[in-house]
Amino acid sequence: MRLVEIKEGRTLLLVPDFAEYARKGAYDPSRAQVFYNPKMEFSRDLAVLALKSYINEINRDVAVCDPLAGVGVRGIRYAKEVDGVEKSVVGDLNKEAIPIILENVKINDLGGKVEVEHKDANLLLATHSEPGKRFDFIDLDPFGTPVPFIDSAIRAIKNKGIIALTATDTAPLCGVYVKPCLRKYGAFPLRCEFCHEVGLRILIGSAVFASIREDFGVMVLLSYSVDHYFRAYLQLFLGAKKADASASLLGYLLYCQNCSWRDTVPLSGKIIASCPLCQKPLKRAGPLWCGSLVDRRFLQSMMEQDLSSLNTKRRIEKMLRLLIEESGMPPAYYSADLLSSKLKRGPPPVSLIIQRLKERGHVASPTHFNPKAFKTDAPLDIIMEVIKEA
Ligand SMILES: C[S@@+](CC[C@H](N)C(=O)[O-])C[C@H]1O[C@@H](n2cnc3c(N)ncnc32)[C@H](O)[C@@H]1O
Ligand SMILES: [Zn+2]
Repeated sequence: MRLVEIKEGRTLLLVPDFAEYARKGAYDPSRAQVFYNPKMEFSRDLAVLALKSYINEINRDVAVCDPLAGVGVRGIRYAKEVDGVEKSVVGDLNKEAIPIILENVKINDLGGKVEVEHKDANLLLATHSEPGKRFDFIDLDPFGTPVPFIDSAIRAIKNKGIIALTATDTAPLCGVYVKPCLRKYGAFPLRCEFCHEVGLRILIGSAVFASIREDFGVMVLLSYSVDHYFRAYLQLFLGAKKADASASLLGYLLYCQNCSWRDTVPLSGKIIASCPLCQKPLKRAGPLWCGSLVDRRFLQSMMEQDLSSLNTKRRIEKMLRLLIEESGMPPAYYSADLLSSKLKRGPPPVSLIIQRLKERGHVASPTHFNPKAFKTDAPLDIIMEVIKEA
């Protein structure tokens, strides 16, 4: 396999030659014997910042693990770019990945810091499940769903450590395919105007179910949906009471396809069958995470990091600003296009809808999920009035 040298952040990397694995003129990462996707650099840049903020907060050295590493990019970047990473364990089951990872460790002078393992991710994590061997930060970045690795990661994480997960199986999570979502996540997805938020909340919900089984409570520090994937950073806190508190934030999302009314209900709550506004039958998504999708303080700390070495700096700044603005908003965003079409008129600018909702004393914000959507605590009749006026 021919390799080329590239640079992400401050890290040099040997990766498969893009030209050799092109389909219709564009690089197709799935064709290369060892996986590397340049389109995920934004996700990796954010991960570097998240780890920096976490280390600032806990104020000690950490051990990290990247058990599904491809060319080793995540684990190697953590060791190279984040002060306070004492050890980075990097693994992959693909034996062709191992010499490339080793070479990438060497060209970055990380000999003593990065441990490379040719192992199944679950086995690698299991060998780190006993106290004293556990990690502070585990990055699960698989093909498709992270579900097969979540239980092992939870057993290998320290108290107050972070598990970061990527899911690229967005079609099941967004309700294009219902049965695989039920099989993998134990939840019903929903094809609706806010299906990406439902998908992200189902992903987090399934990780929270796994965490509370082990008596961990969960705080979502950062989560988002972009491009073709979902990503979440979950901090785990040991304690039955903390786990109970997280369990109380699991529930269902109820939705009326006729008038767009929606609400969340906890797992133990009463599930109503028809819409309180128009009496049409309601759809139900979940179980899913009904709690906060980000921690504003954590985002602000990420924003304060030095972004100058990151190639995706602009996009990161925009995203963090948007997520900070969106934080604290109630679940389930509204599509300006859909609501306007119900009123048989063209959609007004989202910024105008937000401004008018705020003028009426409601909270309202744009959402990173969709540039043509917004979040608010205003009731639906007020939202419709505002759209009519605007
Ligand atoms: C999406 S790629 C990882 C991409 C990489 N993290 C990055 O940012 O470029 C998933 C990787 O997991 C590896 N893999 C798949 N199943 C595995 C398993 N059970 N244990 C360890 N590695 C596995 C694949 O060989 C592949 O390199
Ligand atoms: Zn209704």
